[in-house]
Amino acid sequence: EPAPVICIDGPTASGKGTIAAIVAERLGYHLLDSGSLYRITGLAASRAGIELTEANAQAIADLVSSKVITFLPDQQVLLDGDDISLDIRTEQAGMNASQVATFPAVRQALLQVQRNFCRLPGLVGDGRDMGTTIFPDAPLKVYLTASVQCRAERRYKQLISKGLSANMADLIADLEARDARDINRAASPLKPAQDALHWDNSDSTIDEAVQQVLTWWEQRQ
Ligand code: C5P
Repeated sequence: EPAPVICIDGPTASGKGTIAAIVAERLGYHLLDSGSLYRITGLAASRAGIELTEANAQAIADLVSSKVITFLPDQQVLLDGDDISLDIRTEQAGMNASQVATFPAVRQALLQVQRNFCRLPGLVGDGRDMGTTIFPDAPLKVYLTASVQCRAERRYKQLISKGLSANMADLIADLEARDARDINRAASPLKPAQDALHWDNSDSTIDEAVQQVLTWWEQRQ
């Protein structure tokens, strides 16, 4: 019996990571934060001194395939045993991730890695193409959106609470650049799966969104 998958896709900073983690915990399911794989890939390439260009796409794909990536509880990530949990969370790492994510060779290299997360009793996967490409047969696909203003405010608060500096105008520009790159790329662009259920997270709390996903999931049983 294959493990059931709940896909949660949407743009940067829409709240999907937080919501996916809580839903997974409530259901006792595994969690796939697929964006972290693109962040890890960008970081590994940068550290190896490989420029993030299309000409290097295959080299970057080969590099990440040769690496040992370990996911530990509490969002801890090891790359060949080295703790990179914080390094992959910077704005720069996010921009680098969205760059390597446009390369088909990289997406191909990460395809099976992502499918291997699908184990019993079930999986919650969050990203951009969980429902369209990685788990096309998933019984529940959620497409989570929020206005750019809301997403920038959330990101702003996150950064400030971590003691980092932030500027709203820069954050909005960054989000718009990343949205454009995710939506317009040829390889698995960000778009709702045909059978996705939509949730606008602009004015809702995390709790409300989690409750909605859990209700949809119950209706699927
Ligand atoms: O979700 P997160 O911000 O961590 O993702 C980082 C980047 O990785 C995104 O901006 C996107 O370009 C890319 N990504 C992707 N497909 C996914 C998850 C993330 O292309 N499934």
